[in-house]
Amino acid sequence: MTKPNKKVLFICLGNICRSPAAHGILEHIAGSELEVESAGTSAYHVGEKADARMRKAASERGINLNSISRGFKIKDFEYYDLIITMDDSNYFNITNLDYQNEFKSKIFKMTSFLSEKYSDVKEIPDPYYGGSQGFEFVLDLLEDACKNLLDKIKKGEL
Ligand code: 4NP
Repeated sequence: MTKPNKKVLFICLGNICRSPAAHGILEHIAGSELEVESAGTSAYHVGEKADARMRKAASERGINLNSISRGFKIKDFEYYDLIITMDDSNYFNITNLDYQNEFKSKIFKMTSFLSEKYSDVKEIPDPYYGGSQGFEFVLDLLEDACKNLLDKIKKGEL
């Protein structure tokens, strides 16, 4: 199998909860095989570490989150091979920025990589305003989707 050398960018709203978690999980399971990064569609939390609740929940699963929040940049469309959004609002915002549909084939919904057991989950829910179980559920979803995403990349399907 040839070494996959894809560049993956995860997107959420604030870039402090969901996309940093996806970033940390994929980096953890892929090692140096992939270049992984994350960004937000908003600038609300630019310059901040991932949310302390998400960092704690992830570290309890052996995953360190080291991201610093940044906003999505138009030039990210060129640089990254896969741009993966967490919810419909993120997907809408990113696809709208690609107004000529030039990068459409690079843009995915994270839920499209979920296993069959999560077939009723249509978005990775925003855990920011909820309790700790929301963070655990998001991590369950992201661990599942990242594993399937990596399998697809390794098989050359992406
Ligand atoms: P994220 O979560 O998009 O998963 O990073 C959020 C973080 C902050 C806010 C919303 C969602 N906020 O409104 O400040």
